[in-house]
Amino acid sequence: MHTIRVWDLPTRLFHWALALCVIGLVVTANVGGSWMIWHGRLGYTVLSLLLFRIVWGFVGGHWSRFSSFLYGPSAVLAYLRGNARPEHRVGHNPLGMLSVFALLVVLLLQVSTGLFADDEIAFTGPLASLVSGDTVSQATRYHKSVGKLLLIALVVLHVLAILVYKWIKKDNLLGAMVLGDKQVATPLPSARDSASSRLLALLIWAVCAAAVYWVVGLGQTPSSGG
Ligand code: HEM
Ligand code: HEM
Repeated sequence: MHTIRVWDLPTRLFHWALALCVIGLVVTANVGGSWMIWHGRLGYTVLSLLLFRIVWGFVGGHWSRFSSFLYGPSAVLAYLRGNARPEHRVGHNPLGMLSVFALLVVLLLQVSTGLFADDEIAFTGPLASLVSGDTVSQATRYHKSVGKLLLIALVVLHVLAILVYKWIKKDNLLGAMVLGDKQVATPLPSARDSASSRLLALLIWAVCAAAVYWVVGLGQTPSSGG
């Protein structure tokens, strides 16, 4: 058996920080009131994490790169028919790819609409002042209905899929997302996960966080305050 580093530390930290923030976002949205300030802060954190993950999809460790799990329809169909390739047991398999991209897109839509949303009580997204009232209502409607339901459905499906792989296919995906490694019969490349690549990830995330800070500030006028 070969031990392969699948998820580098930055990808694992990205995942667990994202999961915690999304849980916090659903809780703060439901509690409401002054917790909406934290809803916004957690939302900005999610945006910085998503931007980081997009950059990391090009420069990250082997199995975190989009090119390592970008499959066409024929590969998805072949996988569904039971023709799994050895690398499918290491990085994201073709079904995992669909779930990852769907989660990333739906999260990006949720944050983007959140930036323009208004609860008409005490909290308004930082960019709402830049667009018409109609756009604010549409963004809020999407954020509260379709977006929320899509996201919750995808997360439930995501966790169920992990359990199905564990119990039915006897494949422990969770272990690799916690500790980073998988044991496989075929020799396959390990993801780079050195001190310098981790430092690079930290720098990329810092730049993404600065970009989010800048975007959030765009809607601030002297009269609208913080
Ligand atoms: C991925 C990130 C986000 C998630 C998962 C999320 C999730 C949610 C959920 C589940 C609701 C409750 C809808 C309801 O049932 O009433 C909500 C409401 C809201 N969110 Fe977000 N949100 C995110 C980002 C943001 C951001 C960045 C902002 C703005 C800074 C924002 C602003 C709001 C507002 C203003 C509401 C209240 C809408 C209303 O009740 O009228 N959200 N969000
Ligand atoms: C709100 C909660 C969650 C969100 C938004 C989320 C999102 C994601 C995303 C975007 C990925 C792709 C990782 C990447 O390539 O960067 C992923 C992978 C993964 N997630 Fe989650 N996740 C959540 C909760 C969970 C939970 C609770 C578990 C544990 C049961 C979990 C276990 C995993 C595992 C094992 C993978 C790797 C799957 C594979 O090997 O293909 N996630 N998740």
